Amino acid sequence: MNVIQAIKQRQSVRAYQSKEVDSDLIKTIFAQAQQAPSNCNSQPWHTVVVSGQARNQLEDALVKEVMAQKPPTPHFKPGDQDLKEQYRKRQIDCAISLYDSVGVKYEEKEKRQELMLQNWRFFGAPHVAFFSMPKSMSEINAVDMGIYLQTIMLLMTENDIACCPQGALAVFPEPIYRIANIPNNNAIMFGLSFGYAEKEAPINQYDVGRGNIEDCVEFID
Ligand SMILES: Cc1cc2nc3c(=O)[nH]c(=O)nc-3n(C[C@H](O)[C@H](O)[C@H](O)COP(=O)(O)O)c2cc1C
Repeated sequence: MNVIQAIKQRQSVRAYQSKEVDSDLIKTIFAQAQQAPSNCNSQPWHTVVVSGQARNQLEDALVKEVMAQKPPTPHFKPGDQDLKEQYRKRQIDCAISLYDSVGVKYEEKEKRQELMLQNWRFFGAPHVAFFSMPKSMSEINAVDMGIYLQTIMLLMTENDIACCPQGALAVFPEPIYRIANIPNNNAIMFGLSFGYAEKEAPINQYDVGRGNIEDCVEFID
């Protein structure tokens, strides 16, 4: 598989088989991702990969936290807040495509909430990784985190491993610090659920598409 094939094939997968990924393969992918570039080669990422019993314990704790309607306590403000104009439109289109794929209407609030809750069930994936960086760091280091994330996702795609990046996994951080042993002076940026895709699942069938290059890139001579 070459780079463009991996870029095109990667998609956010939200239904998984229970089959686990071989632990040596997981380690190889995270070792290869160390090649990701970063500002001043600072490599701000600290990553914890959670599987097995710890993964189940974490799911239970997170679902309990969300169901208790505790106030969200992310260190950084989630990126999907206060979106305007075309950014807001894309956010809405993305949510509607997701609901449509499983036949949920916008008015069906409970069903929408159940779909949202799947985030903290890791969409049934057998593994979840949490990515944090020191709380003292800033936007430029968050860029590094994004590049690192995409490097991992493309390597996973090359190995037929599906994944879903999730900002939602930074919103209720307390059980994650406790169970996944995240350093206290680090901020959780996002999580990544991964495993083998349930390829036929309706929720994995939709494609959100992208904006036109003319709206996003200018070429000047
Ligand atoms: C940093 C980041 C955070 C995201 N957070 C979530 C999330 O919390 N829940 C979710 O279902 N998808 C999440 N996504 C997936 C996006 O919705 C998805 O990447 C986008 O709609 C494009 O679709 P694609 O990944 O299938 O190409 C996130 C993606 C990124 C890059």
